[in-house]
Amino acid sequence: MTSKQQLPEGFLWGGAVAAHQVEGGWDQGGKGVSIADVLSGGAHGVDRVITDGVQAGYSYPNHQAVDFYSRYKEDVALFAEMGFKCFRTSIAWTRIFPNGDEHEPNEAGLQFYDDLFDELLKYNIEPVITLSHFEMPNHLVKAYGGWLNRNVVDFFVRFSEVVMERYRNKVKYWMTFNEINNQRNWQYPLFGYCCSGVVFTDQDNPEQAMFQVLHHQFVASAQVVRLGHNINPAMQIGCMIAMVPLYPWSCHPEDVMFVQEAMRERFLFSDVHMRGYYPAYILNEWARKGYDIAMLPEDTRTLREGCADYIGLSYYMSNAVQAHAQGSGSAVSGFAGSVPNPHVKASDWGWQIDPVGLRYSLATLYERYQKPLFIVENGFGAIDNVGADGSINDDYRIAYLQAHIEQMKLAVCYDGVELMGYTPWGCIDCVSFTTGQYSKRYGFIYVDKNDDGSGTLNRARKKSFTWYQQVIASNGEKL
Ligand code: BG6
Repeated sequence: MTSKQQLPEGFLWGGAVAAHQVEGGWDQGGKGVSIADVLSGGAHGVDRVITDGVQAGYSYPNHQAVDFYSRYKEDVALFAEMGFKCFRTSIAWTRIFPNGDEHEPNEAGLQFYDDLFDELLKYNIEPVITLSHFEMPNHLVKAYGGWLNRNVVDFFVRFSEVVMERYRNKVKYWMTFNEINNQRNWQYPLFGYCCSGVVFTDQDNPEQAMFQVLHHQFVASAQVVRLGHNINPAMQIGCMIAMVPLYPWSCHPEDVMFVQEAMRERFLFSDVHMRGYYPAYILNEWARKGYDIAMLPEDTRTLREGCADYIGLSYYMSNAVQAHAQGSGSAVSGFAGSVPNPHVKASDWGWQIDPVGLRYSLATLYERYQKPLFIVENGFGAIDNVGADGSINDDYRIAYLQAHIEQMKLAVCYDGVELMGYTPWGCIDCVSFTTGQYSKRYGFIYVDKNDDGSGTLNRARKKSFTWYQQVIASNGEKL
């Protein structure tokens, strides 16, 4: 037995974004309207509005985002300067199939991603691609009712097959559905809407509808994994979950059992993706609640044959929960039973900062599945100020990332977790998913763009840019 002292050679350092949060060009190159294109801007405490199509009188931040669509060469050069080994983004489904139900793909959209991937590969940066990151065609929502409709499985599989075939020799790392478990919180319209085009609170039986959607996505994911392995056996196709570990408020047995049950709301997703079947706890829950989830006879086999190769995860925060919390669900982040954890601080957006929770998450997931993990999101959303000399001293971001990387290294070197890489979220400033703001910044690269739409879109290196450059160059030794 050897114990590792350092991160492995070939560790995938990089950064992450999603197409709709950076690209802009929402109506260029034959692109169709996506669900992100009909989301208005919001703010902390001000919900984004889901409009019925693009309407006058609303501002839609994703329409322009940070104009990566036309500036990607400049941005990729900056990623290369930082030493990125990989770059995670998504393919906008609406660039390839503008409405989602066409038979022939849009060549201009395919060409855009060919050009982007070529640009990355020129610098030896591996593309890491999410197939569905909150941006399905709006037409599939309007005409079919989103993922509640089984036909959407076929449309998604067709889209995935087209892009996996096209980029078979350019893209090795894939993920199916970004933060698929967000919609488990079906009480929040934005989460269900972005994951599946369904606002669950509009449904007669919201929770059952959510499980039906999930079944369709699990089957679609499994089909895509099988397909990708046939297209190129070297492809690594992962699932992607939002990992928010829950801590019991106290050692009271009821708090501990409360956490055990609440964690199933996360593990359901990794259990089905990684093991290929529904665990007993969920079958019992459906039976208890009288839920009838429509499945085809072949689905059981599809799930078993389409287990994901690795778990991609986002990690931003942990949550403490209490079995008998007063006003449960409102205190911190909306999770049932959430109570503020006095041992950790929170960001300006109320996200609790807990680096140890990252190690805890990695160890827990690895011990549960013994499969590779990939941290595909982690980061600190904050307001950055530009100094009179143009400098942006984001020491708070450096401190956040430093502390998380330290815990990540412990997970690998001490706990023995098999970790593929680390891609901090929003490596270049982009539009926030939950609020639609520009001012909630995560990047190493600053983009001159403000919430009111003003700004030149010029790029600038923050202090964290050179810090991260040295982290990558030393393979995580110089923090
Ligand atoms: C994850 C998403 O939820 O967190 C990203 O996968 C998102 O799309 C990120 O941007 C950070 O959230 P926010 O709301 O701060 O942008």
